[in-house]
Amino acid sequence: MKELPSKKLLRSRFRHHRQTLSPTQQRQCAIQITQHLYFHKLFKESQNIASYYAHQNEVETKGILEQAQQTKKIIYLPVLQNTTNTLLFSKYTPGEKLISNCYGIPEPENKNFIFSSKLELVLVPLLAFDMQGNRLGSGQGYYDRTFAFLKNDAECKKPVLVGLAYECQKVDCLPVEAWDIPLSYLVTEKKIYEF
Ligand SMILES: Nc1ncnc2c1ncn2[C@@H]1O[C@H](COP(=O)(O)OP(=O)(O)O)[C@@H](O)[C@H]1O
Ligand SMILES: [Mg+2]
Repeated sequence: MKELPSKKLLRSRFRHHRQTLSPTQQRQCAIQITQHLYFHKLFKESQNIASYYAHQNEVETKGILEQAQQTKKIIYLPVLQNTTNTLLFSKYTPGEKLISNCYGIPEPENKNFIFSSKLELVLVPLLAFDMQGNRLGSGQGYYDRTFAFLKNDAECKKPVLVGLAYECQKVDCLPVEAWDIPLSYLVTEKKIYEF
């Protein structure tokens, strides 16, 4: 059987793929991704929605956060917890003051956390995804640690993890490790994948 490339090699390959999209292509894709998500029942039926703040060519989330604000949803952004290498999600109103964390990613300055298990929908960034819903992140395992409870407790159905990505980040099969937490949905400029 053909051996899968290592996660490290895949990360550098897909970081490069993402960089080859022009700013205009990235903006157009983000608009289409926002539209797909906005019209999906997942978004319509969720009230507590968490999203990442886009960094280094990740799919821009400002559009979907504006739509969430207009439709009176409660929005949360991740805040890194350095002691546990996990994320906590703090309430966010678009336009409010943010401060950069150690990776230069903006986070809410005022902390107003929700229990992660009370979130309904979490928009997740990634470098690559496969057709089984597996996700390759930047290699720190923050999302895996934070949402490990989804794997440990079979009864636990929330939150639903939704990856946002460009089609060029799609791969047939990713290497998967015991701690990896898969996505339930993935939205690209082309369509919504349900796993
Ligand atoms: N639930 C967990 N408990 C402890 N360590 C974890 C957990 N999830 C991930 N990790 C650690 O995080 C590191 C990065 O995980 P990996 O899946 O390679 O990154 P990413 O998900 O960002 O692509 C791994 O070395 C792994 O040991
Ligand atoms: Mg992982």
